[in-house]
Amino acid sequence: MITVTSHFSEKVVGEALIPGDKSISHRSLMIGASAIGETKVKGLLESDDVIATVHALRCLGVDIEKDEKNGVWIISGRGVGGLSQSNKILDLGNSGTAARLLMGMVASHPFSTLFSGDSSLCSRPMDRVLNPLKRMGAQFGELNIGYLPITVFGTDLLKPITEVLKTPSAQVKSAILLAGLNTIGKTTIIEKQSTRDHTENMLLDFGAELVVEETEEGKAVILTGQPELLANNVYVPADLSSAAFIIVAAIIIPGSSVLIRNVCLNDGRTGILETLREMGGKLEIQNIRESGGERVGDVLASYSNLSGVTVPASRAPSMIDEYPILSIAAACASGKTIFEGVSELRVKESDRLATVSLGLNSCNIKVLETEDSLTINGVDVPEGGCKIMTNGDHRIAMAFLVLGMIAKKPITVDDVSMIETSFPKFLDTMENIGAKFSREKG
Ligand code: S3P
Repeated sequence: MITVTSHFSEKVVGEALIPGDKSISHRSLMIGASAIGETKVKGLLESDDVIATVHALRCLGVDIEKDEKNGVWIISGRGVGGLSQSNKILDLGNSGTAARLLMGMVASHPFSTLFSGDSSLCSRPMDRVLNPLKRMGAQFGELNIGYLPITVFGTDLLKPITEVLKTPSAQVKSAILLAGLNTIGKTTIIEKQSTRDHTENMLLDFGAELVVEETEEGKAVILTGQPELLANNVYVPADLSSAAFIIVAAIIIPGSSVLIRNVCLNDGRTGILETLREMGGKLEIQNIRESGGERVGDVLASYSNLSGVTVPASRAPSMIDEYPILSIAAACASGKTIFEGVSELRVKESDRLATVSLGLNSCNIKVLETEDSLTINGVDVPEGGCKIMTNGDHRIAMAFLVLGMIAKKPITVDDVSMIETSFPKFLDTMENIGAKFSREKG
């Protein structure tokens, strides 16, 4: 355990280098593995979650190497349906994305694969992925129904389905699409609420036949199975979900201004920018361009006076990972901020409604938590002087370290080791722009 205390920091200024997007990194490895030829990935996020995907794909017979000279990752693709049986358990650590997407991938292969993960991942629901995959013809062995460890009994004779998503989840959509890749016929997913479409963008970029249509029921994503995907070069842009911690720090600390270049601005991810703007946050997006089917741009965030807002449930999928850091902005805003329709936060890396409430309460910030909403009463300057229990959740740790930078008294975070899952250089990156952290071995 490494305990870190965040002390008052005068301001944050300069340029921050943010690592590659986690969602795109996982997908570049999986889709690269399904293509023919060598896929080269530049800017891959080298965090524990993504490295778990690298290990799992290697166990499934995919050759993945890093060229240490230039930092480029090279995936020797096996083609669609080309994975081989693993003789080891696939341990996906803390990563829900890795577990769920890979379960979809192996479901269309005629062998069994045992999936497991850490205690957080083993307590997250998997039935949302298992149910559609069962309808396609895959079978599963579970000791604790709907939770890891799970054995996937795959088949290369899956049937294409039309699935109307019950939960707006890019992970579920992507698991079905990856299963549909090696399934003869058209696999269709209908979304009532749009979610990030990195899988669709990358599949198109690798040559898949995929169309998106508006229907009465919602947006339909239709994939034609068994395409020949061709290896590609992928440039992974910076992760907005990681950048959000720096953006909020710049907005809440007087005198701050930070530039972050090359940030992924996928429409299914930018809810945090929209919300911060509504709160009065000064955000400039410059140099918007397209790269590998994704919109990217440079984000300049500066100190602003924030006011509380109501964040509607309809916006949740586009900022699902950003509520912990948004709750810090809300704590520093005048008035009330209400997050509506956020029960999904209860099944993330921790129960984020509970961990955020507990953390803010211990900083003397009044919070009202219901089953699916959170109301935060902002204060002038947060009190601090407390220790935050992260429950092993990386985004809770990073969010409260940001709050400590502006609090009257320092804020200690019980353990920062899980930050490795998404933003390994978070502490250094923050210190480079002005944060004051002290580390103690717990
Ligand atoms: C992700 C989708 C989101 C998000 C997760 C990454 C992805 O999950 O919370 O961190 O890469 O598809 P859901 O789509 O299940 O909400």
